[in-house]
Amino acid sequence: MLQLSNITRAYELGGEKAGVFGVSLDVPAGCLAVLAGPSGSGKTTLLQLAGLLDEPDEGEVRLNGESVSTLPEKARCELRLRRLGFVFQAFNLVPVLSALENVMLPLQLQGMNEEVARRGAAEALDRVGLSDRLEHRPGQLSGGQQQRVAIARALAPKPLLVLADEPTASLDHAHGGPLMDLMAQQCKDSGVSFLVASHDPSVIARANLVFRMQDGRLMSVEGAA
Ligand SMILES: Nc1ncnc2c1ncn2[C@@H]1O[C@H](COP(=O)(O)OP(=O)(O)O)[C@@H](O)[C@H]1O
Ligand SMILES: [Mg+2]
Repeated sequence: MLQLSNITRAYELGGEKAGVFGVSLDVPAGCLAVLAGPSGSGKTTLLQLAGLLDEPDEGEVRLNGESVSTLPEKARCELRLRRLGFVFQAFNLVPVLSALENVMLPLQLQGMNEEVARRGAAEALDRVGLSDRLEHRPGQLSGGQQQRVAIARALAPKPLLVLADEPTASLDHAHGGPLMDLMAQQCKDSGVSFLVASHDPSVIARANLVFRMQDGRLMSVEGAA
């Protein structure tokens, strides 16, 4: 479903080379995959390449068999909006909007009218167990609930793949596992895949597939999807 082939993206840092080097990996449909590795190992760089927010120096990114790394920006933008979802460490919800309105945003950006977007957003929030929090603003929700709103926002457009960068890092320890269980359930229910960057053991423990990164290189792949 997502295929990275021999991806290199190098940064020059004071004469030293940093980034990711020669990474190939494959995330099948319906898979909860984790990019594990210490800080600086290249996880965010890879997520940005997979999310079409950045272009590789070498190698190819494929989504559903289609080579997407060299598409023009307009086409990449369409793919980001319709086929990809994003979840961040800091949730990145709009504070003055309700949970429902936050989840409606990407649907309205796609051109859905308000009524259809409202229905889609309510359905997505129901999938993450927040149907009783539709009118709450982010500040009225716990961290775990805010991250579930962010997951609902990512899932509402029915993407192929959700990219999540350290999604449990702002939560206290007890919330990481349940959040991952929720993602695993979405994989089973709808066939969406997640690629989650994390060094949290409770996240790694729940993955179908673990890609271990170190110094910008893929060191090992564990598990079968
Ligand atoms: N925009 C950038 N400019 C220069 N160096 C960068 C940039 N982004 C990342 N790097 C370097 O690339 C390496 C990998 O970073 P990153 O992908 O953020 O790792 P991780 O997410 O695993 O912590 C690090 O050495 C980092 O300093
Ligand atoms: Mg990072």
